[in-house]
Order: sequence, then structure tokens, then C-alpha cells
Amino acid sequence: MRIVVLVSGTGSNLQAVIDDIGAGHLPVEIAAVGADRPGTLGVARSAAAGLETFVVDFKAFATRGEWDAALLAAVARYAPDYVISSGFMRIVAADFIDAFPGRYVNTHPALLPAFPGAHGVRDALEYGVKVTGCTVHFADAGVDTGPIIAQTAVAVLPEDTEESLHERIKLAERTLLIQVLAELASGPGPGRGNKHQDDGGNH
Ligand code: GRF
Repeated sequence: MRIVVLVSGTGSNLQAVIDDIGAGHLPVEIAAVGADRPGTLGVARSAAAGLETFVVDFKAFATRGEWDAALLAAVARYAPDYVISSGFMRIVAADFIDAFPGRYVNTHPALLPAFPGAHGVRDALEYGVKVTGCTVHFADAGVDTGPIIAQTAVAVLPEDTEESLHERIKLAERTLLIQVLAELASGPGPGRGNKHQDDGGNH
């Protein structure tokens, strides 16, 4: 199973996937790692691991549509079975979802549909929930919407800060992402076996 991974930040979850593949546990090939801006640690880690990388810099395009088309072209040239959004902080266009139906997978640091968006950890903490967690789901063109594949609950501790809670969620997120990738790799193929596959959209 070939994947392209999209990142915007530190790529610590991606590193866990790279390490698991390197240890011979996960039968997955990372065809390339892409980012929406230059200088990310996620791309630096990937290059250090000998992976192909690309940047489709959001700020380098005159229009959103041009960036959307460039991202789609950059990913499509690797012909991935799945595209993984691992801390990729952009919503992709409908054309991107159409190009990878049932094959675009996102990780989110909250128990969707609760606390979608860029601040899922902070929002959960501010709300005062006692349990939050992480979600891996098929992504559509919405903000953290689309059929849920798997979730893990994480307890919120009284002394938690956004950072401490996010670090604990990321530990669970890494295990969950690796587990989902293993299931997808052993499954019947992209999108199949997903009972929501005919729902129309997936984020
Ligand atoms: C993860 O919690 C992901 O769900 C969120 O950003 C974090 C990515 O962390 N959207 P990293 O880049 O893997 O360190």
C-alpha cells in the first residue's frame, strides 16, 4: 500500500509511522511527504529518513484555486492508494476528494464530531470535558467531517494544559493512526470495506 502524507508542522505522528515501517511492522510505503509551506520539521524529518518530499506553498499562489490544482497534481503524480493528512492544516478542495474517493484520511486531536477545527484540544479543555481523544476518519471537503474509522478516548486531567493534553492525545493518535494504516493495508482496497463509502463525501 502506497501512501502520500501531508503535513504542516512537526510531523511527530508521521515520525511514528516512519519508525513503525522501518521496524518492519507496517506493510506501507510512504511514496512522498508533502507540506503546504516551506521549512516544516515534518518535511525535514522525512528527508532525513530518505523519503521524497514536496512543498506546495500556499502563499506562493495567486489564487486558492491554483494552489488546489497544484496540490492535487503534486499528490496524484505518486498515484497513492491513500493520502494521509497528518497535522495538515488546510481543507482540500472538492476536486481533491473526488480524485481520491474514500482514500483521503485525516487525524484529528478530539473525539469528532465534538471540537472540530484547528483548536480541538484547546476547545475541549475550555469546554471542561473530562474525556476527549483522537479520531482517524475519511475526510471530505468540510472541516474535520467525514466517516469515522476509529477513535481513542483520552482522559483530561485536572492539571492539564493545552500542551500536556495534546502531547497525551498525540501518543494515542500515533497508535491509532498506525493501527488504521495496518487495517487499510490488509483490507480489500481503497475505500472498500468502509460502510460509508457510498455516502458521497469523505473528510
Ligand atoms: C496532531 O494532533 C493532529 O491531529 C493535529 O496536529 C497534530 C500534528 O502533530 N491536527 P505532528 O505534526 O504530528 O507533531
